[in-house]
Amino acid sequence: MIRLEGISKEYFMGDVEIRALDDIHLGVQRGEFLSIMGPSGSGKSTLLNVLGVLDQPSSGAYYLEDVDITRLRDKELAQIRNRHFGFIFQSYNLFPELSALENVMVPLMYAGKPRAERLKRAEELLNNVGMGHRLRHLPTQLSGGEQQRVAIARALANNPTLILADEPTGNLATDQGAEIMGILQKLNEQGTTIVIVTHDPGISTYGKRLVKLRDGAIVEDQAIAEIKKEA
Ligand SMILES: Nc1ncnc2c1ncn2[C@@H]1O[C@H](COP(=O)(O)OP(=O)(O)OP(=O)(O)O)[C@@H](O)[C@H]1O
Ligand SMILES: [Mg+2]
Repeated sequence: MIRLEGISKEYFMGDVEIRALDDIHLGVQRGEFLSIMGPSGSGKSTLLNVLGVLDQPSSGAYYLEDVDITRLRDKELAQIRNRHFGFIFQSYNLFPELSALENVMVPLMYAGKPRAERLKRAEELLNNVGMGHRLRHLPTQLSGGEQQRVAIARALANNPTLILADEPTGNLATDQGAEIMGILQKLNEQGTTIVIVTHDPGISTYGKRLVKLRDGAIVEDQAIAEIKKEA
């Protein structure tokens, strides 16, 4: 589905060059559940943002279904993002003035769905993540785990082929985190491809494959089943 070839990303702070990603070669197949780990500053978020086309690499090629998309224009990239990807962040990133239901309706509006269909679909999505009883609540009236479930429902609104999650359990208590990972695991079993970034080794084992980064480079790439066998 996705192939990164020789992807690098540099930032310049005055004269100083920061190499956030250094010659990354990475393939993501349909149906995978990939966890990315590594120390703070190792390039995890940068890699996830490049994968999700939120950020452009400085060099290298990004193939999505065999098309190199690094040459496309912003408008085309935005279309790819809306059509293919769903994003989940550590801080939920819900619209604070909108209810749970309205938050999930936003991407459906951008996709041009009529209001009746938006309402029906948003309610269905919230039911699926166990939030059907909190449709009218504002984000501030929800717990962290509940807000993240709304964020997942919103990420799923346009049936993405790939879910990208940056520390989705980073702000949650262990049991709430396990619940969120259970939802992602179920989505993966139903066919959605998932890539998550996490600091937590326990969380990483919900995936099927683990990639470790250090100083912007991949230093390990292994199936979780293999890691468990070795342990
Ligand atoms: N906009 C930016 N300008 C300059 N440097 C940046 C920028 N964004 C990231 N960096 C640097 O790039 C490196 C990788 O950052 P990144 O956010 O990808 O790390 P991370 O692995 O996600 O860390 P954390 O676990 O703390 O979230 C870091 O050294 C960071 O300081
Ligand atoms: Mg990060």
